[in-house]
Amino acid sequence: MPASRTKARGGPSPSRGGSGRYRKEAERLRSKINEHNYRYYVLAQPEISDYEYDQLLRRLQQLEEQHPEIVTRDSPTQRVGGEPLREFESVAHKAPMLSLDNTYSYDELREFDARIRKTVQQPVYLAELKIDGVAVSLTYEGHRLVQGATRGDGVRGDDITLNIRTVKSIPLILRKKPKAFSRFEVRGEVYLPRARFAAINHEREEEGLPVFANPRNAAAGTLKLLDPAMVQKRGLDCLIHTVPRSPDARLGTDWDILRVLTELGFRTVPETRRLDGIDAVIDHCEKWASRRRDLGFDVDGMVVKLDRFADRDELGMTAKSPRWAVAYKYPPEQAETVVRQIKVNVGRTGTATPVAEMDPVFISGTTVTHASLHNIDEIGRKDIRRGDTVLIHKAGEIIPQVLKVVKKKRKRGTRRFKMPSECPVCGARLFREADEVAWRCVNASCPAMVKGRLLHFAGRGALDIEGLGEKLVDQLVDQGIVTNLADLYALTAEQLSALDRMGQKSAENLVAALEASKQRPFHRLLYGLGIRHVGSHVARVLVQRFGSMDKIRSADPDEVAAVPGIGSAVAESVRNFFADRENVELVERLAASGLQMEDKSAGGPKPLLGKKFVLTGALKAWTREQASELILSLGGTVSSSVSKKTDYVVAGEAAGSKLDRAKSLGVKVLSEAEFRALVGQRV
Ligand code: IVH
Repeated sequence: MPASRTKARGGPSPSRGGSGRYRKEAERLRSKINEHNYRYYVLAQPEISDYEYDQLLRRLQQLEEQHPEIVTRDSPTQRVGGEPLREFESVAHKAPMLSLDNTYSYDELREFDARIRKTVQQPVYLAELKIDGVAVSLTYEGHRLVQGATRGDGVRGDDITLNIRTVKSIPLILRKKPKAFSRFEVRGEVYLPRARFAAINHEREEEGLPVFANPRNAAAGTLKLLDPAMVQKRGLDCLIHTVPRSPDARLGTDWDILRVLTELGFRTVPETRRLDGIDAVIDHCEKWASRRRDLGFDVDGMVVKLDRFADRDELGMTAKSPRWAVAYKYPPEQAETVVRQIKVNVGRTGTATPVAEMDPVFISGTTVTHASLHNIDEIGRKDIRRGDTVLIHKAGEIIPQVLKVVKKKRKRGTRRFKMPSECPVCGARLFREADEVAWRCVNASCPAMVKGRLLHFAGRGALDIEGLGEKLVDQLVDQGIVTNLADLYALTAEQLSALDRMGQKSAENLVAALEASKQRPFHRLLYGLGIRHVGSHVARVLVQRFGSMDKIRSADPDEVAAVPGIGSAVAESVRNFFADRENVELVERLAASGLQMEDKSAGGPKPLLGKKFVLTGALKAWTREQASELILSLGGTVSSSVSKKTDYVVAGEAAGSKLDRAKSLGVKVLSEAEFRALVGQRV
């Protein structure tokens, strides 16, 4: 830990002579970075590329390292600060953190409304998505975050300030500093985005660690970690929904407060509506019953609350919950099906994962036939057997999961599942480390592992090689054409077109996709190598710090471990990777094929500088995120709504209202082909 970080724990350091210039520069950088953070995390309208953002942060880090006396506690460099804690302290809530009464039908919502109308003649309601996360309380003093706490028993919770500080959408210091808000408390829900949940569980399965049952458990488990650096890696987020007390008497409604909170820098619950009468509330609940599946986070209901604080005061509360609010809970989506078979899959790292093959069943929008059973301990706990009827759901709306066995439907003669002693793919021995739940194949060149490595390498977050899917990888490995990642770049269209279900055109497309993948930024290659513990975030951090493959390879493990957010497990694993001659050869062959071995984004051309883009509809060659990244890397900006200031609207398939708006405002509309030409890409 650099001295500057430890030093900063106690609060702003006293001013000292001589560093005024640096202090001013640091202050300017901090406010710029905070503003970009706000645009990125709160408004979802980034104005600069990740690269430019990283440059600002790096300059600030450099200044603060050279002049530790200018570090402030709320500097964006200080989100992860301090040594791991031994335990959390208990803190008392100023006002109790209440829970809500639940309702499960629209009739019950109408009863709630009838009770309200006995006291309030014309109720105005706020309908707000109920985030399925972990309740937190955040206290600000002097416009700075001074405390984050869990709900606990509602009266006292744990002081989790250090963990809360790692959540980038929570402001450490407010954007604006109105006097009324110099000291106040907000409450919200910390959650793990669904995509992070899926990625973390996937990683944990590969690592032989127990998986989380759902995003909420994962968020709760993360907030209980005593090491903030580990918390930061998980990627928590937060949505704010309440202030227990209006800090400003002129703000008489929740609606007004929420608007101010957004201006101060908080990310409030999206899609909140102010509605007159319960019918409109019910319509809103109905609308979100299925739409909630498309959100990036779990929503388990709709919170319906009176908007005016005066009305709330009049209604008061019971011992446990307020009378002015209620939660309408969506019924959980669950279904029964029968397990026909339990197969064992072997992944990239050799982990043998039991998977249930089930009768097809429709749930949360898709038909499900498979569910990972994670590991033998999990199967034992739930006692899942071939032939069992099981209750399933989709964790985080993505991952099919067996909740339990319907025991009364169990047939006679079923037997407990036993893990095979040999790898079902290559026949090598399966072994289990003493402290792991996973069994692994001992054979490093097991075809299943090679396939897993290739699919990871070709995956979206890595080299994104379109057309290199499971079926093709199976053929390439089974026929011995590819045994190693670097072999991919020797493939010819001729060779490929001889494979099953590969026409000449698809073969040529794949060769072109492989060629294009050579231009992917270095951090994606580093991630694609599949080095243990080097996920996409860690890969970015390593690239930011070291800049090139050579430098990462020759870096001293202590130096790697000292990079904020990295730690010794990563350092060890990077060292092990390069200690293996085969890996060194692999990297050399990839370099010889022309893949990016250093961070080139630095001085790249910026042909789109100052141009404002809006994306609408689906593009064929890019996901939204990739297209945005591309625009930002070329100097342009991307926003979510069309205005007169928009330079281009890129319209993909099924473009919606943004296209209409662009036409009515006379904004230039680009087809995908025109966009491709503009960014100068061949594929
Ligand atoms: S308002 C008096 N709004 O649900 C409590 N709560 O079961 C007023 N929650 O403890 C809370 N999303 O942690 C409110 N949009 C939302 C919410 C929300 C999730 C949680 C909150 C509360 C629990 C009640």
